Amino acid sequence: MRRLAILLTCLAGAAFAQGADAPGGEEPSVLPAGQGQEEVFYACTACHSTAIIRRSSFRRDQWDGLMDWMTEKHGMNPLEGAERTLIVDYLAQHFGPRAAPARGRNPFLN
Ligand code: HEC
Repeated sequence: MRRLAILLTCLAGAAFAQGADAPGGEEPSVLPAGQGQEEVFYACTACHSTAIIRRSSFRRDQWDGLMDWMTEKHGMNPLEGAERTLIVDYLAQHFGPRAAPARGRNPFLN
Protein backbone atom coordinates (compact mmCIF):
# COMPACT_ATOMS: atom_id res chain seq x y z
CA MET A 1 0.00 0.00 0.00
CA ARG A 2 2.81 2.35 0.86
CA ARG A 3 4.38 1.62 -2.49
CA LEU A 4 1.19 2.49 -4.29
CA ALA A 5 1.05 5.81 -2.49
CA ILE A 6 4.60 6.62 -3.57
CA LEU A 7 3.80 5.67 -7.16
CA LEU A 8 0.73 7.87 -7.16
CA THR A 9 2.69 10.79 -5.78
CA CYS A 10 5.21 10.42 -8.61
CA LEU A 11 2.49 10.32 -11.25
CA ALA A 12 0.83 13.39 -9.85
CA GLY A 13 4.19 15.15 -9.84
CA ALA A 14 4.78 14.32 -13.50
CA ALA A 15 1.36 15.57 -14.51
CA PHE A 16 1.96 18.78 -12.63
CA ALA A 17 5.34 19.34 -14.28
CA GLN A 18 3.75 18.91 -17.68
CA GLY A 19 1.04 21.45 -16.98
CA ALA A 20 3.71 23.94 -16.01
CA ASP A 21 5.34 23.73 -19.45
CA ALA A 22 3.67 26.82 -20.86
CA PRO A 23 5.66 29.92 -19.96
CA GLY A 24 4.29 31.33 -16.75
CA GLY A 25 1.55 28.70 -16.84
CA GLU A 26 -0.46 30.95 -19.16
CA GLU A 27 -3.53 29.94 -21.11
CA PRO A 28 -4.93 31.40 -24.34
CA SER A 29 -7.49 33.35 -22.32
CA VAL A 30 -4.80 35.76 -21.11
CA LEU A 31 -5.13 37.27 -24.57
CA PRO A 32 -8.24 39.24 -25.57
CA ALA A 33 -10.90 37.00 -27.08
CA GLY A 34 -11.19 37.16 -30.84
CA GLN A 35 -10.40 35.39 -34.05
CA GLY A 36 -6.78 34.30 -33.95
CA GLN A 37 -6.49 34.27 -30.16
CA GLU A 38 -5.43 30.62 -29.94
CA GLU A 39 -3.22 30.76 -33.02
CA VAL A 40 -1.31 33.71 -31.61
CA PHE A 41 -1.02 32.09 -28.22
CA TYR A 42 0.41 28.84 -29.52
CA ALA A 43 2.64 30.38 -32.18
CA CYS A 44 4.14 32.94 -29.84
CA THR A 45 4.50 31.34 -26.44
CA ALA A 46 6.97 28.71 -27.63
CA CYS A 47 9.71 31.19 -26.73
CA HIS A 48 8.31 33.88 -24.46
CA SER A 49 5.22 34.66 -22.45
CA THR A 50 2.44 36.83 -23.82
CA ALA A 51 3.51 39.69 -21.55
CA ILE A 52 5.93 40.89 -24.22
CA ILE A 53 3.03 40.99 -26.70
CA ARG A 54 0.50 42.54 -24.33
CA ARG A 55 2.75 45.43 -23.46
CA SER A 56 3.41 46.19 -27.14
CA SER A 57 1.44 48.42 -29.45
CA PHE A 58 2.33 48.45 -33.11
CA ARG A 59 0.69 49.31 -36.39
CA ARG A 60 -0.21 46.41 -38.64
CA ASP A 61 2.82 46.86 -40.90
CA GLN A 62 5.06 46.93 -37.83
CA TRP A 63 3.60 43.68 -36.53
CA ASP A 64 4.04 42.22 -39.97
CA GLY A 65 7.71 43.21 -40.02
CA LEU A 66 8.16 41.88 -36.51
CA MET A 67 7.11 38.42 -37.71
CA ASP A 68 10.05 38.40 -40.17
CA TRP A 69 12.38 39.70 -37.48
CA MET A 70 11.29 36.92 -35.13
CA THR A 71 11.96 34.37 -37.86
CA GLU A 72 15.29 35.76 -39.00
CA LYS A 73 16.74 36.69 -35.63
CA HIS A 74 15.16 34.23 -33.28
CA GLY A 75 14.40 31.17 -35.38
CA MET A 76 10.62 31.31 -35.29
CA ASN A 77 9.00 29.06 -37.89
CA PRO A 78 8.14 31.34 -40.82
CA LEU A 79 4.55 32.48 -40.72
CA GLU A 80 2.94 32.48 -44.12
CA GLY A 81 -0.34 32.65 -45.96
CA ALA A 82 -3.65 32.60 -44.17
CA GLU A 83 -2.11 31.88 -40.78
CA ARG A 84 0.10 34.92 -41.04
CA THR A 85 -2.83 37.11 -42.06
CA LEU A 86 -4.89 35.80 -39.17
CA ILE A 87 -2.13 36.37 -36.63
CA VAL A 88 -1.07 39.81 -37.86
CA ASP A 89 -4.70 40.95 -38.10
CA TYR A 90 -5.30 39.81 -34.55
CA LEU A 91 -2.19 41.56 -33.24
CA ALA A 92 -2.97 44.81 -35.07
CA GLN A 93 -6.56 44.79 -33.88
CA HIS A 94 -5.87 44.08 -30.23
CA PHE A 95 -2.39 45.52 -29.81
CA GLY A 96 -2.46 48.45 -32.20
CA PRO A 97 -1.25 51.95 -31.43
CA ARG A 98 -2.96 53.16 -28.31
CA ALA A 99 -5.28 56.08 -28.73
CA ALA A 100 -3.68 59.31 -27.58
CA PRO A 101 -5.12 60.32 -24.22
CA ALA A 102 -7.59 63.15 -24.41
CA ARG A 103 -5.77 66.34 -23.52
CA GLY A 104 -6.71 68.64 -20.74
CA ARG A 105 -8.82 66.08 -18.96
CA ASN A 106 -7.95 64.67 -15.63
CA PRO A 107 -9.05 61.04 -15.69
CA PHE A 108 -9.34 61.05 -11.90
CA LEU A 109 -11.90 63.85 -11.89
CA ASN A 110 -14.37 62.32 -14.34
C1 HEC B 1 11.52 31.13 -31.83
C2 HEC B 1 11.27 31.94 -30.69
C3 HEC B 1 10.21 33.01 -30.77
C4 HEC B 1 8.90 32.89 -31.21
C5 HEC B 1 8.19 31.64 -31.71
C6 HEC B 1 8.31 34.19 -31.05
N1 HEC B 1 9.21 35.07 -30.52
FE1 HEC B 1 8.87 37.02 -30.07
N2 HEC B 1 10.77 37.22 -29.40
C7 HEC B 1 11.71 36.19 -29.35
C8 HEC B 1 12.93 36.69 -28.77
C9 HEC B 1 14.20 35.88 -28.51
C10 HEC B 1 12.70 38.06 -28.48
C11 HEC B 1 13.66 39.09 -27.91
C12 HEC B 1 14.20 38.74 -26.61
C13 HEC B 1 13.34 39.13 -25.48
O1 HEC B 1 13.20 40.34 -25.25
O2 HEC B 1 12.81 38.24 -24.78
C14 HEC B 1 11.34 38.35 -28.88
C15 HEC B 1 10.72 39.57 -28.73
C16 HEC B 1 9.41 39.86 -29.09
C17 HEC B 1 8.78 41.16 -28.96
C18 HEC B 1 9.42 42.43 -28.42
C19 HEC B 1 9.96 43.20 -29.59
C20 HEC B 1 10.40 44.58 -29.20
O3 HEC B 1 11.36 45.05 -29.82
O4 HEC B 1 9.78 45.18 -28.31
C21 HEC B 1 7.50 41.02 -29.39
C22 HEC B 1 6.44 42.10 -29.45
C23 HEC B 1 7.34 39.66 -29.81
N3 HEC B 1 8.52 38.97 -29.60
C24 HEC B 1 6.18 39.16 -30.33
C25 HEC B 1 6.03 37.84 -30.79
C26 HEC B 1 4.83 37.35 -31.41
C27 HEC B 1 3.58 38.17 -31.65
C28 HEC B 1 5.06 36.05 -31.71
C29 HEC B 1 4.11 35.08 -32.39
C30 HEC B 1 3.67 35.42 -33.71
C31 HEC B 1 6.42 35.73 -31.29
N4 HEC B 1 6.97 36.85 -30.73
C32 HEC B 1 7.01 34.49 -31.42
C33 HEC B 1 11.54 34.90 -29.77
C34 HEC B 1 10.39 34.38 -30.32
